[in-house]
Amino acid sequence: MLFITNKYLKPGMILAKDIILYNSSNFNSLLLTKGQVLNRTFINRIHYHSIEGAYIESEVFADIEVDSYINDTLKAKSLKTVKDVYYELKMSWGKVNSASIRQISGIVDSLITEILYKDNLSYNIIDFKNYDDYTYQHCLNVATLAISTGIAMGLGEGMLHDLGMAGLLHDIGKMMIPIEILNKPGKLTDEEFDIIKEHPVNAVNLLKDLVPYSVLSGIQSHHEKLDGTGYPYGIAGSNIHFYGRVLAVCDVYDALTSDRSYRMTSFPSEVIEYIMGCADKHFDYEILKSFLQVIVAYPIGTFVKLSDKRFAVVVKNNSENIMRPIVRIINSDGTVGKDVDLLYDKKYMNITITDMAYDYDGSGLEGALKSTYEMKLKL
Ligand SMILES: [Fe+2]
Repeated sequence: MLFITNKYLKPGMILAKDIILYNSSNFNSLLLTKGQVLNRTFINRIHYHSIEGAYIESEVFADIEVDSYINDTLKAKSLKTVKDVYYELKMSWGKVNSASIRQISGIVDSLITEILYKDNLSYNIIDFKNYDDYTYQHCLNVATLAISTGIAMGLGEGMLHDLGMAGLLHDIGKMMIPIEILNKPGKLTDEEFDIIKEHPVNAVNLLKDLVPYSVLSGIQSHHEKLDGTGYPYGIAGSNIHFYGRVLAVCDVYDALTSDRSYRMTSFPSEVIEYIMGCADKHFDYEILKSFLQVIVAYPIGTFVKLSDKRFAVVVKNNSENIMRPIVRIINSDGTVGKDVDLLYDKKYMNITITDMAYDYDGSGLEGALKSTYEMKLKL
């Protein structure tokens, strides 16, 4: 299968995966089913819901399989639980009862089980961007990334559980911030930003009798930076709780790759470069190394542009270096070439990925898509 961005979806293409919508009113609604042949109406529906693209069947790329990182049912249940608990907290002015926290704890157990038994940890960003409601999806993404990073670091289940709890609950303090400030388009004033900065402390006040101290410490410090320039207390280095240092990386990665206003410019690869540039300044380098084993810069089944101007499709990722995956070259005449390992194939060491053709608007991609798809029809 291939991942095609909504801009390049064409009538006649066949969906290789269900498209499921997650939004605040319905957490698991099937928009379109696997095997469906796309027509104009369906493509318009995909555009209407701002879904970035779809996995499309392609015989030339039939061997490329993309599994969901978290199964759809668990994803929907997690989002609903997080939303219910956050909402309950808002309505009760901070009185979250322990039953709600037990529900969150149950979700964390399920997430850990789901992620622990995966063959390989590679968080597919496309899997996590089909939601309408940013707050809850962000909490689920951060928890998923934090648990995955913890597994890569070899943490035991107790610590994974604490990290997952801290991930799901880390922004609960934002529920106490006026919605006009939280959703304000454009730049915040200094006073408004000071109010935003209160959210880690708000969370601790709300949760102090409900979750362990280590979880509270992680939540409280998720905006602290290694060099002491973070908030709320400006603490530095190992004075920042370990969970807080893990959450900080996951939080920034998800925020930057999700930011709708920057979506078209912040590809995962660019965000990874930015985060790596902040190693030892904002982020703990040891944690970052494990985090980088978990995420992928170039999701499987997506188009990339190579430094020799050719297009290619990502076939497999190398966890040793996420910037250099195995790709299937598309020749300049539109035929599909061989698979090249950009990390280990010595002949191709000089070739780098220069662009995610994910949303590339050059005619080259159009041509490559046309030829690969036409090839499929010919077969
Ligand atoms: Fe936050």
